[in-house]
Amino acid sequence: MRVRKAVIPAAGLGTRMLPAAKAVPKEMMPIVDKPAMQYQIEEAVASGITDILIITNRGKESIEDYFDFSPEYEKHLEMKGKTAELESLRAIANMANITFIRQKEAKGLGHAVLCAKSFIGNEPFAVLYGDDLIEAHKPTTKSLIEIYEKYGKGVVGVSKVAPELIHKYCSLKVDKIEDRIFSCTDMIEKPTPDKVMSYYSILGRVVLPPEIFQLLETSKPGFGGEIQLTDSMAELARRTGVMAYEFPGTHHDLGSKLGLLKANISYGVKHDEIGEDFRQWLKNYVKENL
Ligand code: UTP
Repeated sequence: MRVRKAVIPAAGLGTRMLPAAKAVPKEMMPIVDKPAMQYQIEEAVASGITDILIITNRGKESIEDYFDFSPEYEKHLEMKGKTAELESLRAIANMANITFIRQKEAKGLGHAVLCAKSFIGNEPFAVLYGDDLIEAHKPTTKSLIEIYEKYGKGVVGVSKVAPELIHKYCSLKVDKIEDRIFSCTDMIEKPTPDKVMSYYSILGRVVLPPEIFQLLETSKPGFGGEIQLTDSMAELARRTGVMAYEFPGTHHDLGSKLGLLKANISYGVKHDEIGEDFRQWLKNYVKENL
């Protein structure tokens, strides 16, 4: 079955980004001039997704407003004859069929995905974690969908994590099948050193069959007392196996201060309008200060 729906969980508290997260959801922090969430939607749309559910919560109304029309700005740009700017602003509201639902309590990523059950129905779907940005030529979600269609199993996007950091991520049991593609038969969230199965960890993108919802419904709170998506994907991996794809490109963790800064620099130096000036400034800054 074609993958045409995606879920973007964005209801987490974002405590690592406090105090800024009090005012701006971390999924809406700007990467140069666009909020993180727009990059996620662009990736989904470029991957063939037509229907997107964003999971929000209290205090994240700015996400809904962003994908709505903005009559004040539009009128202003129209009056000034700024047609290109007007069109790009309007395009944001028409990028895809975007729906919103609230996760009433931040009970974990697994719980957030479970909130999408009736929206998804009985179809496979993609999940783009709201604070993970992947900078790549080919959209990572598109590659995962192609692997899903080829193997008929759930697919997780993975990257190798430094051994000293694996305890902050999840660890997968994998066997290589072809270039960048592995079969995965088990995984564990936040492993202690004796439980590490490999340094491959899931970073922000998965495509799942609808059977995941039955597993999420019976899932007990895991690490941190939260319903962990990894625990249900681990059960799926043990029962039917899932595929893992080592995606090319750069992963940015926008839920961390360092990740957000790195993403801004990486996108900033390539930006059409300010890239050249920024590169020049950065070179001088490094020479004079570092
Ligand atoms: P994180 O674990 O990075 O989010 O979840 P968090 O809990 O907000 O992070 P900190 O530790 O407090 O800084 C990855 C994605 O899943 C969403 C988050 O919004 C983020 O985009 N999420 C997480 C939910 O939608 N609901 C939750 O209950 C937890």
